[in-house]
Amino acid sequence: MSDIEPQAVEALLDAAFGTDRFGRTAYRIRDGMEVVAALSFALVDGGILTGTIQCWPVAHRNEDGVATPLVMVGPVAVRPDVQRGGHGRVLMQRMLDAAETAADSSLMMIGDPEYYGRFFDFTADATGEWDLPGPYEKRRLLARAVNGHALPRGAGMIGPR
Ligand SMILES: CC(C)(COP(=O)(O)OP(=O)(O)OC[C@H]1O[C@@H](n2cnc3c(N)ncnc32)[C@H](O)[C@@H]1OP(=O)(O)O)[C@@H](O)C(=O)NCCC(=O)NCCS
Repeated sequence: MSDIEPQAVEALLDAAFGTDRFGRTAYRIRDGMEVVAALSFALVDGGILTGTIQCWPVAHRNEDGVATPLVMVGPVAVRPDVQRGGHGRVLMQRMLDAAETAADSSLMMIGDPEYYGRFFDFTADATGEWDLPGPYEKRRLLARAVNGHALPRGAGMIGPR
């Protein structure tokens, strides 16, 4: 893990998600936010970027306007030529270890439950009434309590903090 050029991160995200990624709902959720540096990491091997994980300050807002802070996890991306070699798990575990003491709120993400549930205890149990500012599959809206913070369970829109 180390600091890395922002352009290298952007190139890796293009390779993993495609250059049309900016229209994704995940980008709207954290529109205008700065990355949470304490929970964002790069995996570098031989000076070359292998993977990256970024986290963002977002919030759940109910119809009364009450906001509950959340940290959005993602994008999580591993260079396509070295995927399925354990790098994604290393990145997620590093973030979760940091979140155990540094997260100012619980975690949410859009991702495959077959991966993020199986290895990292993310579930859609709390997110059934949540809404996002764009299209998404309900089963892929995941959350996980961390660092003593509870998850908001009722109806609410997820957006920038
Ligand atoms: C998803 C991603 C981060 C996983 O990282 P990785 O280094 O490739 O995967 P790991 O080596 O850590 O995990 C390997 C295990 O997870 C499984 N796995 C990997 N991606 C999976 C997925 N999307 N769904 C289900 N299982 C998955 C593998 O089959 C493997 O299981 P096994 O050990 O039983 O064979 C990476 O593949 C990636 O960048 N994908 C493209 C971008 C993306 O979809 N990101 C997630 C959304 S934010």
